[in-house]
Amino acid sequence: MCGIVGYVGHQEAQPILLNGLSKLEYRGYDSAGLATFSEDGLIVRKTKGRLSVLADSLSVHNMKGSIGIGHTRWATHGKPSDVNSHPHTDNAMKFSVVHNGIIENYLELKEELQAKGHVFVSETDTEVVSHLLAELYEGSVLEAVKAAVAQMRGAFALGVLSDFEPDQLIAVRYQSPLILGLGDGENFIASDIPAILEHTRDIYILNDGEMAVLTRNGIQLLGSEGEKIDREIYRVEWDLVQAEKAGYEHFMLKEIFEQPKAYTDTMRGRIDEETMRVIFNELEWTAELANSFDRIHIVACGTAYHAGMVGKTVLEQLLRIPVETDIASEYRYRKPIITPQTLLIVVSQSGETADTLAALREAKKHGARVLAITNVVGSSVSREADNVIITWAGPEIAVASTKAYTSQLVAFYLFSLYMAQLKEVIVQEELTTTLKALIELPAQVQHILHQHERIKRFADRVSEQPSVFFMGRGLDYAVALEGSLKLKEISYIHSEAYAAGELKHGTLALIEEGRPVIALATQPALFEKTVSNIKEVKARGAYVLGVTWEGDEELIKSVDKVFKVPQTIPLLTSALTVIPLQLLAYYTSVARGNDVDKPRNLAKSVTVE
Ligand code: AGP
Repeated sequence: MCGIVGYVGHQEAQPILLNGLSKLEYRGYDSAGLATFSEDGLIVRKTKGRLSVLADSLSVHNMKGSIGIGHTRWATHGKPSDVNSHPHTDNAMKFSVVHNGIIENYLELKEELQAKGHVFVSETDTEVVSHLLAELYEGSVLEAVKAAVAQMRGAFALGVLSDFEPDQLIAVRYQSPLILGLGDGENFIASDIPAILEHTRDIYILNDGEMAVLTRNGIQLLGSEGEKIDREIYRVEWDLVQAEKAGYEHFMLKEIFEQPKAYTDTMRGRIDEETMRVIFNELEWTAELANSFDRIHIVACGTAYHAGMVGKTVLEQLLRIPVETDIASEYRYRKPIITPQTLLIVVSQSGETADTLAALREAKKHGARVLAITNVVGSSVSREADNVIITWAGPEIAVASTKAYTSQLVAFYLFSLYMAQLKEVIVQEELTTTLKALIELPAQVQHILHQHERIKRFADRVSEQPSVFFMGRGLDYAVALEGSLKLKEISYIHSEAYAAGELKHGTLALIEEGRPVIALATQPALFEKTVSNIKEVKARGAYVLGVTWEGDEELIKSVDKVFKVPQTIPLLTSALTVIPLQLLAYYTSVARGNDVDKPRNLAKSVTVE
């Protein structure tokens, strides 16, 4: 997720672009850049680091021009660096491009362009666009953009400024957000409303496949076939703070509702739907390497550790090799048995958690191969691991991790299937069934999110309780742990999660009249046993919210309230079951008047041991 801005008008572009980008840093902030056009021609200035680094350099030597584009980056392809920052240009500096999204076929396009003599300087997918435009230009910038877009696959919101036609900007939207602002003698491009709200409240919202040509005199919208189209102007009534959260009250709620897109983006380019197989261009492992591992260790902290617990079950069920999960702060002190045949998987949203980094270094000392699953390109774990799988969830601002956690689950599902392919321990039929179920998940999450009001009503019952219990078996236990942590860290209510079969060995003594228990029962093979555990807590007076799959009519007979999630294959249910628990924690915290996005005592990334 990155932030794009564009301006064409009668004012100096630089301050407008910088200010616009400052309102989009929640979309990405590892590097930033501008391109403007003036009597000196097309100028590009871009730097690694926060926007302030670019602003400082421009305060000394500014950029002239009343037309320009800007970008604040959240790296997906290519680590944060000056040269990987946007805007990108062709070799002759005739085109400059800013991009938000992922171009799935950039490698094949890059090879074709290199064969034609285009010289690339960055590791990014975006640079392909600027060279493609130069290659396809035959006198019309708009026609070159249309021809380039026709060759691209993936998700892209683009802003294009060309030296050939320096009084216009071209905007393109395909599966990445982009809006256009209408001013008086000036017009704007932006990834999101906050970037332009102080200049105009009148916007066009582009639909997928649509383009626009912006000049000082107006905006011409073009349909997916290049035909001129009209669109009703949308009047924005939000204030700036609301706009940064896209109208949501908190970043956490926004990020919960971004999960369908986070799932889609994390799967993007990693499932070949023609062959129904998993592909990881960033791994390119061999069967020999996959078969060389005799054990897997998964090490992480907090929510990432809970994702690892789900990963353990999925990996063991598919690969039938031992998988151990460890809390990172415990791992290296237990003198773990690590050999060159050990695969260590570290999971970390921030990629900077000190305990997780320490575990990574310990494992490398003993010759293990390290795979990192992280949400931040260029983070410490991504640099020190041997291989990296990026979760393309975009920046997660709320301290309580939601979309990063579920994107980690998707990464584990994909990696487990990838390993099963390499080890030839999965038949195509099972692979196809599982991948089809994976592809279905984003829509199923959306279906759950539509029922958020039901969860909000249950939260009102929980919010006054001194403690809340979560229980489940197997994968449901791993999710129960995550649900309990979510509730604790933002509502400040004490909570515990238990393997449902373990309650009777002590903790059942804590269950008393009216105590809320969230019981997860989504694993058919464990359903009956879970129901009998639910009856144990009910008999002690618990008030039970059961979570099961749509179509089950049994659980409601044993609980007080039931929430049903869409049916999927048992191995993937965690990616659905956790959603109502995230919402429960969120609404409980709001009911208690807490600072949801910045809970007390906590930090988004714990970089100390
Ligand atoms: C998540 O809700 C928590 N804020 C916390 O447990 C977090 O998951 C943990 O600190 C690990 O962070 P990381 O994923 O950035 O390594």
